[in-house]
Order: sequence, then C-alpha cells, then structure tokens
Amino acid sequence: MKRINYDKLLMIPGPTMVSSEVLNTMAYPIIGHRTKEFGALLEDTVEKMKKVFITKGDVYIITGSGTAVMDMAIANTVNKGDKVLTICNGNFGERFSKIVEVYKGEVIKLEYSWGKGARPEDVKRILEENPDIKAVTVVHNETSTGVRNPIKDIGKIVKDYDALYIVDTISSLGGDYVDVDGFHIDICIAGSQKCLGAPPGISAISISEKAWDVINSTESKSFYLDIKAYRDRFESKKESPYTPAVSLIYALNKALDRVLEEGLENRVKRHERMARATVTGLEAMGIELFAEEWARSITVTSAIYPHGIEDKEFRKILSNKYNVVIAGGQGQVSGKIFRIGHMGEVKEIHILGTLAAIEMAFKELGYNTSGGVDAAKEILER
Ligand SMILES: Cc1ncc(COP(=O)(O)O)c(C=O)c1O
Repeated sequence: MKRINYDKLLMIPGPTMVSSEVLNTMAYPIIGHRTKEFGALLEDTVEKMKKVFITKGDVYIITGSGTAVMDMAIANTVNKGDKVLTICNGNFGERFSKIVEVYKGEVIKLEYSWGKGARPEDVKRILEENPDIKAVTVVHNETSTGVRNPIKDIGKIVKDYDALYIVDTISSLGGDYVDVDGFHIDICIAGSQKCLGAPPGISAISISEKAWDVINSTESKSFYLDIKAYRDRFESKKESPYTPAVSLIYALNKALDRVLEEGLENRVKRHERMARATVTGLEAMGIELFAEEWARSITVTSAIYPHGIEDKEFRKILSNKYNVVIAGGQGQVSGKIFRIGHMGEVKEIHILGTLAAIEMAFKELGYNTSGGVDAAKEILER
C-alpha cells in the first residue's frame, strides 16, 4: 500500500479534522462494555449530548454513521402505507425519501431545486392538504448544496399538527443553532464526524415524548436499529444492546467536552465568522456562490466553478501540490460546484490557507484571480 499522507488540510464537509486531545483518547485501553465503568462513560456521554442537543428528551448513542440514525428514525416510526413528507433540496433530503420507500411508507416530496432553501409556508400548505401525514423530515444543513433550511420556523408549523418532526442535524450540530426542545423537534439525529470534531463511526438520536408514543405503536422493522432495545438496555443497565465502539465513545466524550467548554453560542459565532471569511474571499475572486443568500450554510460553502475549470484537475492540484482537500459536487451538481467545509476545529489559518491554495490552483488552470485572501483577512481582522 502507498504511504498515506496525513499532513493534508482537510477542508471537506466531513469527516473533519480532529484535535489531538480527542484523537489521543482513542489510544486508551479498551474496557469491557458490560462494566460499571463503561456504564458511567456512556451515561456521561449521553448527558453531554443532551446539553448539545438542548433537550430533556431521551438520547442514544449508536454505533454506525449518520445514515444509521436516519434509518433508525424511519424504521421505528413508519408503517407500510404511512404518509411521510420529505423536504428535498439536496442529496440527504433525497436519502430520507429513499429510506421511507424501503420501509414502504408513502413519500410526499416537497422538492426545491438544489441551492434553494425550503419555505415554511410550503410545509404548512402540504400539511393542511394532507392531515394524515405521520412525519415530516428535513435536513437542517444540506451538506450536498451548502443550504441551511429554516428548521426553527418549520418546527413552529409542524408542532400544530399530529406529524412527527424529524430533523437531520448531522452537519450542523455543534456548529449552528440547534435547540431540539425549543424548535419542537421530535427526533433529531447527529453524526460524530462533522461540527462535533470527533472521528467518524458513531451517531446520536434524540427522542421526544410525542415520538415515543408513535414508536410504541409502530412495529420496528429493524433488528440492529430497534430503538426500544437501546432504551431498555440503557434504562436497566446503562449499556447498549450490542457491542459499542468503545474507543469512539472515549473520543466523542472528549469532543463534547471541547464543544461545551467553548460554549454553544461561541461556537456558532466562530462558524459564522469562518463562513463569512470564506464567502467574502471567494466573492472577491469573482466566484459565484451556489446556495441562495438567505439560506446559506455557515458550516459548508458551495461555489460554482468559473468557466473552463475542470473539477477533478482543480482538486488534484489543490490536494497534490498544496495539500488542501476540498469536496466537489454530488449528484446533479457533480463537476459544477466545489464545496469547502468549515466545521468543527476550523480556525482562521485554515480558511486563509485554503483560499490561497484555491487562488494558486485557479491561476495554474488559466483563471487569473487574486484578492481572495486579502478580503478574507479583512473579515478576520475585525
Ligand atoms: C446532512 C447529512 N446527512 C446525512 C449524512 C450521512 O451521514 P454518514 O455519511 O455519516 O452516514 C451526511 C454525510 O455527509 C450529511 O452531511
């Protein structure tokens, strides 16, 4: 195997760079997962996770990536033929629709073209037209397009209907405002590897009382992802039903300490500042942004390639010559946009370095531009 270059600046929208303080915990010896020590660790991690979610509801840590808890949310609430409104303006909104289809639910899609944000009034209209909708799914931060959907305002609408409000905060929790109870979210899901600054591989799910009522009357269609098994084992023994990723729980626990030490409000402000610097730098280079302005994410910025710049060639130069890794577009915008993740541990130097590398790579490919770094510096000096 070719030696891996570990020295690259990871500016993709997850997984993100992990602090050495968090990484070092992964070297602790493995403890038994049916012991009091592990129970205390799991309970402590759940309590910290509740603080970050801002919920008095139940929270479970699941061994599996973010998609596992997307799947869990649907597997435990949707029976065959149940209507689910899925808000789709990118790849991950679409993923919810696909999962609902797997469990034979009836998908009612509220679609927007990629780059556009979801409108709460449209959600209201559809709920009025279909009073038997059982759940509404939305992705807070649509990582594939760099769009932030207004989950607070959508929550204000959904709360007046019987439908459950299921929100994917996989690429926003710990970087943007999420308030599970305050936004009336019934099931909220998160991943370890984005704004929380932990390695990939585990995820978290919160469950409200309203969600429990639905779960209790739904037959789970999954063995591994049956939420009742997690509830029963946690309530009786502070354990998870199956062998958990012990080392990842050490890491998540430490990462949550860092999030709480910085403070949720400060953390969001830092992410806003990094996003502003990135956006200002790109605009100064004459680059057009992809997401519409009112719905722009503060954890990932998406931008349209200038004419003549080829995606793979551009990102190859960035990675091989300047050691900066960013992401391309997914699905229908593949080759058309690039995405810069500024999540988790991101700091000023990472934004400036990324913009400088982008300027140099553009120049090499014939798009002569400058001024991006200076414009970003101006924002960061304030
Ligand atoms: C918003 C969002 N939802 C879901 C997922 C899927 O998570 P995972 O790849 O951890 O399964 C991602 C991953 O990028 C995401 O950004």
